[in-house]
Amino acid sequence: MPAAIARKPPSEMKLLGISGSLRRVSTNSALLRALADNAPDDVTIEISELIGELPIFNSDREGDLTPCAVEAFGRQIHEADGLIFACPEYAHGIPGGLKNALDWMVSRDEIPNKPAMLVRASTRSDHALSALQEVLRTMSLRLMPEVGFAVHLLGKAAERMEEILSAAEARDGMRQALARFDRFIRAERSA
Ligand SMILES: Cc1cc2nc3c(=O)[nH]c(=O)nc-3n(C[C@H](O)[C@H](O)[C@H](O)COP(=O)(O)O)c2cc1C
Repeated sequence: MPAAIARKPPSEMKLLGISGSLRRVSTNSALLRALADNAPDDVTIEISELIGELPIFNSDREGDLTPCAVEAFGRQIHEADGLIFACPEYAHGIPGGLKNALDWMVSRDEIPNKPAMLVRASTRSDHALSALQEVLRTMSLRLMPEVGFAVHLLGKAAERMEEILSAAEARDGMRQALARFDRFIRAERSA
């Protein structure tokens, strides 16, 4: 008998969370983890840990010379049905680590037409939000027009973050955001 090919049922959604912060107690990473914890059974959210592993972008190292970590990051993106970005603001811009990761992806084929949703862990980061929206649109991602979910975790200690993110209102908001993103991805597929 031929070996069975493992296929994902069409109803299942695999999402990749990308945090713009490498901090151990990052509010943005905490928000992505909370989204993963609140995802419905047919949605899995993997959180990429690779951004801190990528060397500084150098177009001389594209093609055959592409670093392994960059290939691995590209694979994570390729395998995801959609991307969820949570990004802090540094000096009114996108943190260098995240911009560097995106620069590596500019000339590759994993990113164009990939659906993306932005979520916010700070209501104070308007410059970074609009800069990231501009970069993602320029890279031809399909960006969900509205921010999926926003919560103000800035300056909160880990325990307080947990309290805020586990409150019924926040959990409900995160589930609604994931449901909206799910509908957006399916609509983009059939467009
Ligand atoms: C280098 C640096 C620059 C920052 N610049 C800004 C800024 O321009 N605007 C802002 O609202 N917050 C700024 N912040 C605050 C961060 O956005 C805030 O610490 C955020 O919570 C970091 O996200 P994280 O908790 O996921 O690490 C800055 C923080 C750092 C470390």
